[in-house]
Amino acid sequence: MLYFAITSNSFRKSSIDELNKISQFKILDEFLNSMVIESEERDFVGKLIQSSPIFIYNMASLQDGVAKITEENYLEILYQKLHQALPKEGSLKIECVDLNCKTSYSAKEIEIFMGERLEAEGRAIDLKSPDYLAYVIMINDHCYSGVSDFRKLWKKFIEPERHYHTNAKYPISRSELKLIQAFDEFEVRQGTIAIDLGAAPGGWSNCLLRHKYKVIAIDNGLLEYEKFKNNGTRVKIPESLPIKHYDIETNDIIHIKSNARDVSYLGDAVKVDLILDDMNMEPEASVSILLNLLGNLNPGAGLILTVKCINRKAELHIRKTEKALSGKFKIISIRCLPANRQELTLYASYLGGGKPAFSQK
Ligand SMILES: C[S@@+](CC[C@H](N)C(=O)[O-])C[C@H]1O[C@@H](n2cnc3c(N)ncnc32)[C@H](O)[C@@H]1O
Repeated sequence: MLYFAITSNSFRKSSIDELNKISQFKILDEFLNSMVIESEERDFVGKLIQSSPIFIYNMASLQDGVAKITEENYLEILYQKLHQALPKEGSLKIECVDLNCKTSYSAKEIEIFMGERLEAEGRAIDLKSPDYLAYVIMINDHCYSGVSDFRKLWKKFIEPERHYHTNAKYPISRSELKLIQAFDEFEVRQGTIAIDLGAAPGGWSNCLLRHKYKVIAIDNGLLEYEKFKNNGTRVKIPESLPIKHYDIETNDIIHIKSNARDVSYLGDAVKVDLILDDMNMEPEASVSILLNLLGNLNPGAGLILTVKCINRKAELHIRKTEKALSGKFKIISIRCLPANRQELTLYASYLGGGKPAFSQK
């Protein structure tokens, strides 16, 4: 059986170990964080998902056989292969992924070529919620194809780069993409106020605003006040703590311009449903700072933490982070998201007593 896997750029060995825990496999093709593997295991994807992977971001099965781009009629071969694999009925979306492939066609051109031919045969194309996703992976000098039931796919796309590639979505910082992906990945509980530790220049705060949160941003650095203002966001930089009810009611972002180490309590007015921490420091140090703010968390509050790994020993950093959070937070998931470089993203919920004061998404 053939599979396409998106692994982690920074933690290749950990990604391979994670796959090896499911079954033995052989790498047939590889480019950066993407690989085509071959294995005897018939349900590699299902078993991987069940194992709550950290490093493998996405995986999908491929049809047997491969078209070599040196073959003159490889596009026709690919089309015929896809055609054979498609169920007789149901709408389709086609995704073509180009990974260092030397073909003269772009991914877009191949999508159009396949789409037009299938439409000419009476197949409906539906880009939003198709019945099937048909995909072509062009990697180095090989092309693979696959078809999956859209509803059963792990992710609703094969390759994240293009899915998330739109500057309009994250105009403040590249970091913003990490939080966009975290919201897509985790069942983040909806709430009303969030704390954003290490908030500058404001990408995460910007993403929080789109999720209808009011934000207490803490960072000595500057936020992109102009960009926020242009969007009609009300930003306040208070002279001192505690924060007052009036400040929360009349503003969208309250920027505490200070080192988070010096902020142990924001005041009784602030009870938050989500605490974010993207401070650039080792996770143990980061956690020890965020624990100072437990008094401002609502029961069950969510935590999204970037686990920065100073070396490639991700497992060691995970263990240290788990230890630092233990007894205070329940870890729900740890994932290496596509936008993570040498870091992971952790989602947890506060174990502080009582019932959550907000509903689940
Ligand atoms: C990776 S950047 C955060 C980017 C931000 N999440 C965004 O989307 O724009 C890390 C930030 O952590 C901040 N930082 C590091 N140590 C800090 C501390 N002790 N207190 C507050 N902020 C800190 C830095 O000033 C820097 O702005």
